[in-house]
Amino acid sequence: MNPMLRANLKNSIAWRLLRGLKRLAAPPRAAVPADQRTGQIVWTNAPPAVEAGATLDLKLQLVNRAGVPWPAGGTQPVALRARWLTRFGEPFDQPERTVPLPANLYPGEPRTLAFKMTAPDVVGDFALALDFVQNGQGFGETRTALTVVGPRSTDIDYHAVYRTANLQQNHWWVVGAYHSKEQYEQSSKERREMLVRCGLTPDFRVLDIGCGTGQMAGALENYLSPKGAYAGTDIGAEAIEFCERTFTKPNFAFRRGGMTDVPFNADGSFDMAIFFSVFTHTFPDETALLMAEARRLLKPTGTIIADVITSPLVERGAGHRGEMVLNKDYFLKLARMLGYEGEVIGRWPWNRHAERFMFQLRRSR
Ligand SMILES: C[S@@+](CC[C@H](N)C(=O)[O-])C[C@H]1O[C@@H](n2cnc3c(N)ncnc32)[C@H](O)[C@@H]1O
Repeated sequence: MNPMLRANLKNSIAWRLLRGLKRLAAPPRAAVPADQRTGQIVWTNAPPAVEAGATLDLKLQLVNRAGVPWPAGGTQPVALRARWLTRFGEPFDQPERTVPLPANLYPGEPRTLAFKMTAPDVVGDFALALDFVQNGQGFGETRTALTVVGPRSTDIDYHAVYRTANLQQNHWWVVGAYHSKEQYEQSSKERREMLVRCGLTPDFRVLDIGCGTGQMAGALENYLSPKGAYAGTDIGAEAIEFCERTFTKPNFAFRRGGMTDVPFNADGSFDMAIFFSVFTHTFPDETALLMAEARRLLKPTGTIIADVITSPLVERGAGHRGEMVLNKDYFLKLARMLGYEGEVIGRWPWNRHAERFMFQLRRSR
């Protein structure tokens, strides 16, 4: 039928009357027969990503595609159910919601339904499953993929951080959750000991990518021999200037880098590349490009030490610069693509679903 004619007909008084009569003649039945459980749910304002724990304002369009009306009330109402599923399609441990239909749902008549739903409180790739439910039995399910990222309030812009920080006073505070300068220095010693366990010797040439205010430069200043060398790079101009003023040995060099490039050109000359709390702030593709830079600058025998926050709820990576969460297997796959095999040299619980790992990567080809 001509769409214009159809629209006119649908708005006509006769048509509305007919529809009203149809409702009188066919009041909603209590239990929807199994063969009448066909419906359509469209989430009309679905966002591609949402902040962890945020309240979502959902607007849905519901259509009963069956031949009989569905009751909104009575003893066996049909309702709308919303559940979070993990990327594996398993229920996520967050309470589901069941929302009453606004009115009986008549065949073919679209109804809108609006309600609020809390997003998962952790970062990950989720799906929101929406279905009709009657007597605990669901039907007409639709799933919408949605990435949950960290709250905006926890995002970080390192350029802004360094611009506003007083590094002379609190260089230790801007680069991590340290309570004091002593704790920062203790952590740098522990990291150096870990690097020694990974093969570091005083004659090593060390590349520190995302060197910050020189936590490892400080730890290595009196450890590396004159034959050894340290090269630090960071996106923060103020951090690099601070390091240049603070660490002045001739075999120590600092350069400001870009998001995905390391501004040294002594290809194949370093023994160890370290990324401490850096891949926790870069997006997965940036992480891959930075690792490729490390490979370019490392000797074939060279090794990479890096820590990563991981969660199985994430397919590749999700989050923001304040905290990036990667899938562990995806990170190891990236390493393998660059010819490195990864070994776990440390791990700590991070949150309900995430763990923080320290990896040592060695060239396999
Ligand atoms: C948490 S701080 C850690 C600093 C230092 N590695 C440490 O452990 O003390 C993260 C550092 O990574 C730097 N950063 C972030 N993204 C970077 C990138 N793409 N390339 C180089 N540095 C980066 C930041 O500017 C910041 O100094």
